This record gives sequence, C-alpha cells and structure tokens, in this order.
Amino acid sequence: LQDLSVIIVAGGSGTRMTSEVPKQFIPLGGKPLLIHSLETFHTVFPGIRIVVPLADLFIERWKELVSAYACTVPHQIVPGGETRFHSVKQGLQLIPDGGLTGIHDSARPLVTCGLIKRAYEAAGETGNAVPAIGIGESLRSVSREGNKPEVRDRFRIIQTPQVFRTSLLKRAYNQEYRETFTDDATVVEAAGVAIHLIAGESDNLKVTYPADLIFAEAILSHRLKESPASSPLP
Ligand code: C5P
Repeated sequence: LQDLSVIIVAGGSGTRMTSEVPKQFIPLGGKPLLIHSLETFHTVFPGIRIVVPLADLFIERWKELVSAYACTVPHQIVPGGETRFHSVKQGLQLIPDGGLTGIHDSARPLVTCGLIKRAYEAAGETGNAVPAIGIGESLRSVSREGNKPEVRDRFRIIQTPQVFRTSLLKRAYNQEYRETFTDDATVVEAAGVAIHLIAGESDNLKVTYPADLIFAEAILSHRLKESPASSPLP
C-alpha cells in the first residue's frame, strides 16, 4: 500500500455532549479523543498523510493540547466547514491525487490498528471499503401511520474509517451538498459507485452522548489490562 492519507474529521462543536470543550478534546484515558485516533493511524502506517479539519474557534486550543500532551504525530490542520461534508471537502484540498484516502470520525477514538489495516487493504483491492456491524436489538420503523417491526438482519450500522481511491473520493465530493450525505459512503454512492462493506468492530463506538465516554473508558482500560506491553495503543 502506497500514498496513503486520512482525514480525521473534528470540525463539529459537539453540542450533544453538553460539555464546555468540544468532544474531540474531551480526555479519554488521560488524553484527548482526537489524539487517540491520530496515534493509531500513525502507528499502522507511519508514512500516512494526516489532515485534521477543525472549527476555527478551536484551532488555537488544539495547538495548545498538542504541546501539552507532547503529541508528535505529524498532521496538517484545515478550518472545518458547516457540516461534516464541508469539513471533508476542506480536508481533500490538502490531499494530492492518487493513492487511497480514508475518512475517520475523531469521535471514534477506539479504532484499532487491525481495522485500519483491513480497511485500506480492502479499498486497495476494490476501490472502497466501509466498515459495518450488525444490530443486536429488535428494530421497528415509525411513521405517521404507526410503527412496524423490521427484520434486523437486513440492517447494518456504519462506522469509520471509510477508505476510498482518492480519485473517486475527490470526484464524489465535487457534487452539490445534499442533506442525505451523512457519511462518505452516501456521497460516493451518489456519484454512482457501489459500496463495499467490510466487518467493523463493536468496540469502535462513536462518542456521542456522555454515557458513551463511560463505555469507552471501560473498553480502553480493559485493553490496557489485556496487553500492557503495547499500551497505550490497541
Ligand atoms: O456531529 P457528528 O457526531 O455526527 O459528527 C461526526 C464527525 O464529523 C465528528 O467527528 C465531527 O467532529 C465531524 N464534523 C465535522 N464538521 C462539522 C460537523 C461534524 O468535521 N461541521
């Protein structure tokens, strides 16, 4: 695998966390969420180009955190946009044509080296790779008429990193923004390309609500107990 990039999106302001700091800066296992993903990508592919879209308001704060936590992972910062789509688009401007580009939510700090590697390898073969997991709960759909059960085997929860041939991703992100673009797979699919799902990981949770941080802390400390020698990375 050659010419690899990742955009770790951290442009949101994280209003659902009800905390003073944006969620990508909240400490997990003693360091900000965003630093976890930066370090994991750099560990898997030491030469990977890392671009981080950040809201203007938080760029100075991020620079302070990088030095406070002595984070030495090379990365470039770009101002984020109004939505995730616009933040990715900003990030793509710093990525040269060619190779593979992944997009990862900074809100998923527990991504493992194994998943990152599998996603880039699969995208190298098929052009794109999007991690997905099944659903354990029963499902119902709701509408104005009422609600009805759904067959849960037909559904998947979609995660990041989502990895694509850079040329494909750039072409897809030239489309006009639509509200249905909730991740990169929706954008690429709208450009006419079928999405390849790969196995995601249930541990790769997205920190959205305060309780998610409690789960994430528990998973992280469990991992550190299992393999203290390789700490602090999964
Ligand atoms: O808000 P939500 O949790 O869905 O955001 C998913 C990811 O997209 C987060 O990592 C967030 O930082 C990022 N994002 C962004 N720019 C925005 C909104 C969200 O980079 N304007």
